[in-house]
Amino acid sequence: MQEIGEANITEAVLERFAETPDARLKEILDALVKHLHAFVRETEITFDEWNVAIDFLTRTGQISVGGRQEFILLSDTLGVSMLVDAINHRFPEGATESTVLGPFYVDNPPEFAQGFDISRGQPGEPLFVDVAVNGPGGKPAANVIVDVWHSDTEGFYDVQRTDLKEPTLRGRFRTDGQGRLRFWSILPSPYPIPDDGPVGEMLAATKRHPWRPAHLHFMIAHDGCETLITHLFVDGDKYLDSDAVFGVKRSLIKIYTKEAAGPAPDGRKMDRPWRMLTHTFRLAPAIVRKRA
Ligand code: BEZ
Ligand code: FE
Repeated sequence: MQEIGEANITEAVLERFAETPDARLKEILDALVKHLHAFVRETEITFDEWNVAIDFLTRTGQISVGGRQEFILLSDTLGVSMLVDAINHRFPEGATESTVLGPFYVDNPPEFAQGFDISRGQPGEPLFVDVAVNGPGGKPAANVIVDVWHSDTEGFYDVQRTDLKEPTLRGRFRTDGQGRLRFWSILPSPYPIPDDGPVGEMLAATKRHPWRPAHLHFMIAHDGCETLITHLFVDGDKYLDSDAVFGVKRSLIKIYTKEAAGPAPDGRKMDRPWRMLTHTFRLAPAIVRKRA
């Protein structure tokens, strides 16, 4: 019988995984064990501390149901989501940068015609969005699916509210023949990520705030291209330098221009000041991955 102790337990665990048929699974498990053991050795963690960690992870799982995905928040606030994104989206120069998806995307949102107002009467400063989507070569990308979603003036997504009867501040559009998309909404606000669970405890214990700078989310899917998941942040927001989930990139900060009352570009008569966002997205060619 092999004697297992502090000096050789890592090797012993790795040996048990030696027959794993799936080579990638083996690679990941081996690395996980090596790093976990190194972490325990480095910190010389106590039983009490380890129990705190187990309890934290247990509660992270228990609170995760439906729209509340605490493990995503944990990954986001530890910078893991953005690191996975960076490694998997090494786009060529000139392509629009990606950022974190977040937990509030809803698959297959309702599709609307161009010009629709996704605010559906929610209060807020009116926002006219006029964006263009180009393919990797810079040519306009026509008939491309663009999903958009964002928070309301109180910082909530529709899925966090119980008083809404229909999807609000979200929708699916298609670019026109010139690769352009125009629609109405309201100016998004900064908001705290949900902080009434274990991730909030972690943020409080480390004197971190839970706020994200105001942004619009975009997911743009086009054949032959990487699906672009990104935000356009509102320039001047006080949380741009300290986003709770590390999602801000300089190239994604935009001036949402202030416009005076009067006719908007689509002819809508505005009786109060409004905002306009213009941007051209450039998609990256599909990345050929060695692994699925
Ligand atoms: C979001 O932008 O919707 C988001 C991203 C990460 C964590 C929480 C929210
Ligand atoms: Fe968001």
